[in-house]
Formats: sequence, C-alpha cells, structure tokens
Amino acid sequence: MSEITDAQAFPMRGIPQPTRESVLNLPRVRISQHPVIVHKITLLRDKRTSPPEFYRLVRELGALLAYEATSDLRLEPVQVETPLESMTGGRLAGGVGIVPILRAGLGLAEGFRQVLPDAAVWHLGLRRDERTLEPIEYYNQLARSTNLQVCFSVDPMLATGGSAIDALNILKRYGVPHLRYVALIGAPYGLLKLRQAHPDVPIYLAALDERLDDRGYICPGLGDAGDRQFGTL
Ligand code: PRP
Ligand code: URA
Repeated sequence: MSEITDAQAFPMRGIPQPTRESVLNLPRVRISQHPVIVHKITLLRDKRTSPPEFYRLVRELGALLAYEATSDLRLEPVQVETPLESMTGGRLAGGVGIVPILRAGLGLAEGFRQVLPDAAVWHLGLRRDERTLEPIEYYNQLARSTNLQVCFSVDPMLATGGSAIDALNILKRYGVPHLRYVALIGAPYGLLKLRQAHPDVPIYLAALDERLDDRGYICPGLGDAGDRQFGTL
C-alpha cells in the first residue's frame, strides 16, 4: 500500500487564504444577520448536538434561508375569491427549482421545500476527494428546464468552493437559468473562489467563518455536515 504524503493528508497546508474582512463586502453576497439564524447555527456548531437534532436544525435553517433568499422573487397578479369578496392577489411567477448537493444538502433542501412545496427537486451527487479536495460527480438527476424564475443550489458547507463551483458549472451546462447558491457556513477562501468563478450567481450564507484548516475543514465550523446529519461519524 502506498504511503499518504503530507501534501495528500493536509492539502490546504501552506496555501494562502484571504481574511474574513477582505471578503465581507463582495458583490451579490448576503450573510444573514437574523438573530434566529445565529441562534440555530450556534446550536448546530455544538459538538454535543446529536444527529437527529442536527438534521432538524439544518431543516429549520433551510426554511429560514429560503425565506431570505426568496424575498425579491417576482409575483404575477391572480384573482382570488375570499369568503367576503373578490380581490387581486399575487402568485410566484414561473417555477422554482431546488438542487441539493448530496448528501449534506438534503436537510437544507427539506427546509426549502417546507417554504416552496411546489418546487422541483433535482439531486446532484458530489463527493470531495479528501486528499486533493477536488469534487467528484457520482449522481445526477437534473432535468433541462428553462421555465424557472429561480433555481437554488443548496449545500451546507462552502469550504474550498470546489463543489459549489462544479455544481453551478453543471447546472449552467444543463441550461438552468437564474441560479442562486445557498449555504449555511462559508470560508473566506471558498467564498472568494466562488465569487470569481460565477460572478453572476447571488450567494446566501447563514455565517462566514475565519479560515480552512490544513485538511480543508471550515474553522470554527461545525465539522462534517454530512456525517453529523446522518450519524456516520
Ligand atoms: C461537503 C459539503 C460540500 C463540500 C464542501 O460534502 O457538503 O459539498 O464538502 O467542500 P468544498 O467547498 O471544499 O468542495 P462532502 O464531499 O463531504 O460529501 P457529503 O455531503 O456526502 O458528506
Ligand atoms: N465539508 C464539511 O462537511 N465540513 C467542512 O468543514 C468542510 C467541508
């Protein structure tokens, strides 16, 4: 068996990273300041939070982020009969797509679906190679749909940015329009890379952390979002 080299075990060692302050004001990046989101993210970070509790919190945060990331969607007028009289209300113009990046994106997508039950859900499987930190695509259930007002790519962790960039590359190749990217916690390194690779895609985060460690984990972070949701630690 071949030995694992230091470069494979610690792929981020020696790689310069931007500071948190230097990426705070990048264009089309929204980092939530909502007190309920901060409260729930703090519970999520706690190493004592059990997998069922962790999954419940990710779902709740998904619903809260869906609320924030849909605040500017377009409406079209629709006539409605109330028990008292007729009036003109509004309904979302065009469809909504949700793309969970497997597997950690599943909990966030569930939260999005609570707010947007009519949304189409397309699964995309990307796994990060622990030695190179390069994403590997292993599952794809995307559909070519252009009749969307918006399509959310959802994944809890934006670390090196490799998975997010790849996911958006794939969605663009499928011709999916009006993309938005939503994550719980971002690292400055991945946020900058993603902003540079896809300057047109709005980014919504619940929190922006300090840095990546030598293995590419977000610090202080919450650990491995997939393992903690599904109890595979
Ligand atoms: C995690 C996370 C992202 C990716 C982020 O997934 O959910 O998809 O890592 O890292 P990056 O920004 O450096 O690409 P992981 O590959 O661990 O798979 P999982 O969801 O199956 O746990
Ligand atoms: N993926 C995770 O689940 N956590 C990290 O900190 C980085 C990548």
